[in-house]
Amino acid sequence: MPDPYWSDPYWSDPDGTVHLYLGDMREILPALGVRADLIVADPPYAETSLTWDRWPEGWPTLAAQHARSMWCFGSMRMFLERRDEFAGWKLSQDVVWEKHNGSGFAADRFKRVHEIATHWYRGDWRDVHRDVPTEKSGRRDGGEGGMRATATAREHTGSIAAKAWDGSDGSRLLRSVQRVRSMHGRAIHPTEKPLGILAPLIRYACPPGGLVLDPFAGSGSTLDAARQSGRRAIGVEANEEYCERAALRLSALTLDFDTTA
Ligand SMILES: C[S@@+](CC[C@H](N)C(=O)[O-])C[C@H]1O[C@@H](n2cnc3c(N)ncnc32)[C@H](O)[C@@H]1O
Repeated sequence: MPDPYWSDPYWSDPDGTVHLYLGDMREILPALGVRADLIVADPPYAETSLTWDRWPEGWPTLAAQHARSMWCFGSMRMFLERRDEFAGWKLSQDVVWEKHNGSGFAADRFKRVHEIATHWYRGDWRDVHRDVPTEKSGRRDGGEGGMRATATAREHTGSIAAKAWDGSDGSRLLRSVQRVRSMHGRAIHPTEKPLGILAPLIRYACPPGGLVLDPFAGSGSTLDAARQSGRRAIGVEANEEYCERAALRLSALTLDFDTTA
């Protein structure tokens, strides 16, 4: 008998490269039994009073059964409070997403204008897919100065001995602080991530044509970014309203503009 989850996604795109499932990731991931190249997780940080903002206990351990590489968004507070739950994972690096506006409301602290994306892996770093994250010279936003990185073969820092970057083509390594406008004013989900922060993370850690799994899909931003980057994607979202918004958003990008009919 086919597994009901496989046979009944909430939404799939016409060519079958993206599937969205409605439900609790703790039930759906085991039912799918999927092996992904990369997990992109933006879990509930459990820092607001929003009804869905509850940390699903044990999800990092569960996720470890479905991929050996994972980007996880969060705050420093979240990672420190939940550090024991990431015990099965090794940390490779962290990337700071600098937003153009803030989300913190405490008047007695620095205005919070960033989130952290941490990259985790399991097993041997040499077996973990990663592609040298580069950009063309002159593309850097903000003009923070031209600190040019050198590529040496260091373990765990993102350098790749097999195809080391040397910058001779005029490119430079992407910086670990990425300045990307937030979705403020145009979001369809309260914590929607912009494509501009998701795409480089996906291109770095998932091979072209590979499978990205987002256990907390929200607005479908990861699925959208994965598809636009030439990757396949599976998302899970527990809130039906968000599922519907994500499906609409993803459908809008697959409109058939054939005018010959
Ligand atoms: C931080 S938001 C993700 C936002 C998303 N990255 C985006 O860009 O739109 C977390 C999402 O996880 C969903 N969620 C919470 N608990 C869940 C669970 N146990 N299984 C699946 N989804 C869950 C929430 O409804 C919420 O939409």
